[in-house]
Amino acid sequence: MSRYAPILLGVNVDHVATLRQARGTRYPDPVAAALLAERSGADSITIHLREDRRHIQERDLQLMERLLDTRVNLEMAVTDSMLAIAVDAGPADCCLVPENRQELTTEGGLNVAGQAARIRSACERLESAGIRTSLFIDPEPAQLEASVACGARVVELHTGAYADADDPQALTRELTRLTTAAEFGTRLGLRIHAGHGLHYHNVQPIAAIREIVELNIGHAIVARAVFDGFAKAVADMKTLMQEVR
Ligand code: PXP
Repeated sequence: MSRYAPILLGVNVDHVATLRQARGTRYPDPVAAALLAERSGADSITIHLREDRRHIQERDLQLMERLLDTRVNLEMAVTDSMLAIAVDAGPADCCLVPENRQELTTEGGLNVAGQAARIRSACERLESAGIRTSLFIDPEPAQLEASVACGARVVELHTGAYADADDPQALTRELTRLTTAAEFGTRLGLRIHAGHGLHYHNVQPIAAIREIVELNIGHAIVARAVFDGFAKAVADMKTLMQEVR
């Protein structure tokens, strides 16, 4: 029996849609991937409906909302049009992220402290529609405190700097930052998620941080699925996470 709270896996299926959009075909369908992920151990499905619609489309969100048994976690920029889409679709969770049209993927955390009024109003709008709202932030005390002040119940700690660390000192420093932030956020009453850049070889030290209760992982799982199949790719990631709890 584990000493820690179980750790949940949110499977991000954006890059199944990336492959579909590359050719403008109907396949591969991220909705089918989401259903398969659920059967293979995913506790929720994460999708990022980007403003440029480069991968996930509104159709995907609507179908997932109707067909999935687990939670849909909608990642989105803090804009009026995205807030309207979220309130209309009504996913269980929303994760507010910064968005820059030129970026390859979400680059940094949301600067909650620097735009508190805007974030607070977005959290209020989503929470009043019954949507649990999370803020994607860098693992910094000021951002955690600002998240609480804005009324967020959940934060997702950005693990990108940890994933990019290319020497042992940097790796230890980033792991310490994440651990400290997870402990501090928990003391502030926040539910702690984490994600970005996690893969089969770097996930376990993060999954071992007992205050972290959910990881959102996409690119590595979709990439592994090319060789091993989607069901095995999801199940293997979940096993690695659970091994260290
Ligand atoms: N969490 C958030 C907030 C993200 O923006 C992303 C990327 O869309 C992920 C998790 C998943 O990152 P990756 O695809 O690198 O696993």
